[in-house]
Amino acid sequence: MQRCLWEVGWIPCLLTFLLVSCPGFKRPLSTSERVPRICIVGSGPAGFYTAQHLLKHHKLARVDIYEKLPVPFGLVRFGVAPDHPEVKNVINTFTQTAQSDRCSYYGNVTVGKDVTVEELQQAYHAVVLSYGAEDNRILGIPGENLSGVYSARAFVGWYNGLPENRDLKPDLSSKTVLVLGQGNVALDVARILLTPLDLLRTDITEGSLAAIASSKVKRVWLVGRRGPLQVAFTIKELREMVNLPGARPILDPADFAGLRDAIKDVPRPRKRLTELMIKTALEKPGEKEAKIWASATREWGLKFLRSPLEILPTADGKRARGIRMAVTRLEGSGESATAVPTGEVEELECGLILSSIGYRSLPLGSSVPFDRKHGIIPNHLGRVQGVPGLYCSGWVKRGPTGVIITTMNDSFDTAQSVLEDLQAGMLNVSNTKEGFESVRSILQSRGVHPVSFSDWEKIDAAEVARGQLAGKPREKIVDPQEMLQLIGH
Ligand SMILES: Cc1cc2nc3c(=O)[nH]c(=O)nc-3n(C[C@H](O)[C@H](O)[C@H](O)COP(=O)(O)OP(=O)(O)OC[C@H]3O[C@@H](n4cnc5c(N)ncnc54)[C@H](O)[C@@H]3O)c2cc1C
Ligand SMILES: NC(=O)c1ccc[n+]([C@@H]2O[C@H](COP(=O)([O-])OP(=O)(O)OC[C@H]3O[C@@H](n4cnc5c(N)ncnc54)[C@H](OP(=O)(O)O)[C@@H]3O)[C@@H](O)[C@H]2O)c1
Ligand SMILES: *[C@@H]1O[C@H](CO)[C@@H](O)[C@H](O)[C@H]1NC(C)=O
Ligand SMILES: *[C@@H]1O[C@H](CO)[C@@H](O)[C@H](O)[C@H]1NC(C)=O
Ligand SMILES: *[C@@H]1O[C@H](CO)[C@@H](O)[C@H](O)[C@H]1NC(C)=O
Ligand SMILES: *[C@@H]1O[C@H](CO)[C@@H](O)[C@H](O)[C@H]1NC(C)=O
Repeated sequence: MQRCLWEVGWIPCLLTFLLVSCPGFKRPLSTSERVPRICIVGSGPAGFYTAQHLLKHHKLARVDIYEKLPVPFGLVRFGVAPDHPEVKNVINTFTQTAQSDRCSYYGNVTVGKDVTVEELQQAYHAVVLSYGAEDNRILGIPGENLSGVYSARAFVGWYNGLPENRDLKPDLSSKTVLVLGQGNVALDVARILLTPLDLLRTDITEGSLAAIASSKVKRVWLVGRRGPLQVAFTIKELREMVNLPGARPILDPADFAGLRDAIKDVPRPRKRLTELMIKTALEKPGEKEAKIWASATREWGLKFLRSPLEILPTADGKRARGIRMAVTRLEGSGESATAVPTGEVEELECGLILSSIGYRSLPLGSSVPFDRKHGIIPNHLGRVQGVPGLYCSGWVKRGPTGVIITTMNDSFDTAQSVLEDLQAGMLNVSNTKEGFESVRSILQSRGVHPVSFSDWEKIDAAEVARGQLAGKPREKIVDPQEMLQLIGH
């Protein structure tokens, strides 16, 4: 009582005292006072935001996060472009969550292989699947697997230090690069290929920086199967391209003629984005742009109404030398317009083709329902259909679109569903569950050694120290063996 008086003043203190000591106000010890053990699969934004919300709004819940890679943060580390460091500030919030004494991190554990979802369901009251979209969509056209053709996913993984892509060694000896797709990932890879070297002193990996330094790439085409009103990238990212030092846009005025009338009634973000394209293509550049463009040694452009048909091989059949595309026209209008072939085809020479047509989630074993058509786990507000106690959040819940804020929003929704189910007594919290204590022995018996969050902090410190030597914010360790040595497993 004295300590309370001292800290909060006597009126609130007296009220609290009365409330607590009056039996009528005391809540009975219900199942919600037991410790719910919750497991999260995947440590990207969806995993961490789900954990954050659960820990904040349930004072007893304990959360364990399992991650396939040794290191945390998913696409924030391995997707977000190295020249966008401010986006990665969310890592600070994730780190606070991980440091909560009710949260644990177990890296280097692949759910579905090292431990099954059923085993996790045995060990926890609730399991949240937030394992993202680890694969890429495929074009499904001849020549797709030729050397010189890469998925944007692999290319991004390469420059961002994803261990599985560290040896990609893309051939950058081609003058022209074709990026298939017109989303923000397509702009990311185009920008990384065209940005002057001195602006790439970022956390981009040493190896990819060296490769880009000797790159011969001078021109990047971003190819869309639909038109300028259907591009998937956003205005901030387009503006960055327009203002990119050393590079000039090559937009065909014919693509934008007459578009001003068409955008009168479209939603504002789409309207502003289209206006920027129109301005860039049709108007005399301002002083700043004129200066950049006049001295530019590299260029980028948008090609519309072209749908890939075949990647053309060199004479020896080993490498890509170009692409054959169907010229398309739009059927319908607005966001839902579809591209239909006109019968006309076009060929373009180029030695490097990056397919940036989107990511794709994979199913996780037979006990987890999966909607193959939409590539998501079927769910209602994050509750997996037909499996009580199983939830999902992030890209595997919604599909592989949306920025980090979108992912945060839907992860909070999923966490809210878990909290409501706890409140409603649907998660059988009266059955004590051991959480990681019972998973530990399963992993041990299978020779799996989890990486803890303090192990990651050692790796993190080593990366930052290496970066300092090279004048970079961080030099990522790309070899898991090297991580192993650092943490002394
Ligand atoms: C190239 C690229 C750049 C982007 N840039 C931006 C940007 O600049 N700004 C922005 O706001 N958004 C950006 N985004 C979008 C953003 O990254 C996503 O909204 C967000 O990462 C999705 O979160 P997630 O947790 O669902 O998936 P992820 O971030 O992919 O996290 C999933 C995690 O699960 C792990 N995992 C997978 N399988 C298993 C398994 N079987 N067992 C255990 N763990 C597993 C993965 O290793 C991964 O760590 C970008 C996306 C991409 C692809
Ligand atoms: N800076 C940032 O904020 C940032 C950076 C990177 C990524 N992200 C976000 O991450 C998400 C994923 O980005 P993304 O670029 O991978 O996906 P996306 O935004 O869905 O773009 C995919 C592109 O590929 C095209 N495409 C799909 N299938 C095709 C096919 N078979 N043939 C030809 N073209 C095809 C699409 O055209 P159609 O429209 O015709 O299908 C679209 O132009 C997005 O929400 C994005 O905004 C954000
Ligand atoms: C390309 O390779 C993948 C897997 O390696 C395979 O599934 C696909 O069918 C191949 N595509 C073609 C056109 O050969
Ligand atoms: C809770 O227990 C009941 C009865 O034992 C069972 O039918 C139900 O599936 C359990 N719920 C969960 C989420 O395990
Ligand atoms: C967040 O999610 C809710 C419900 O799912 C939705 O209504 C709302 O528009 C979303 N907000 C943002 C910013 O995405
Ligand atoms: C991850 O686990 C595997 C066994 O599944 C082990 O061989 C490897 O050394 C571990 N890596 C790290 C960094 O601990």
